[in-house]
Amino acid sequence: MRYQPRGELLTREVTADRKRLLQVMTNLLSNAAKFSPEGEVVEISTEEAPAGLRVGVHDRGPGIPEAFRARIFGRFNQADSTTSRQKGGTGLGLAICKRLVEMMEGHIGFQDREGGGTTFWFELPRHA
Ligand SMILES: Nc1ncnc2c1ncn2[C@@H]1O[C@H](COP(=O)(O)OP(=O)(O)OP(=O)(O)O)[C@@H](O)[C@H]1O
Ligand SMILES: [Mg+2]
Repeated sequence: MRYQPRGELLTREVTADRKRLLQVMTNLLSNAAKFSPEGEVVEISTEEAPAGLRVGVHDRGPGIPEAFRARIFGRFNQADSTTSRQKGGTGLGLAICKRLVEMMEGHIGFQDREGGGTTFWFELPRHA
């Protein structure tokens, strides 16, 4: 697995709580790494959004099952109940991400990725 920036390497600035922002990035990147097939690339993107900054983490993992989508940001929720045994984790990472992003007055979500996999994204106001 490799991390790779997507698009131009532009510097984008946001004023945010360093610890919260790092925790959100850590959780999203660790999921992308954990659910990626061996040797796949995880891409990271940043773009200007109407309300501020949008960060994307794009993987080539298995995607999010339809039946799990509504619960994915809930606490202790995992798509596959054997995940915690196979891949580790407690099902708390995304619940924490959502909480932290919302504390910073931002939004978090995910979408299917063209060609397979998932994009998790969050948006933060310029001064979060
Ligand atoms: N990038 C992803 N691709 C596929 N499924 C994902 C991805 N990210 C999260 N999931 C699904 O959502 C579940 C919840 O993710 P979450 O980060 O909250 O918990 P976890 O990674 O299992 O454990 P923890 O984050 O507490 O170590 C995962 O167990 C997995 O089923
Ligand atoms: Mg996680």
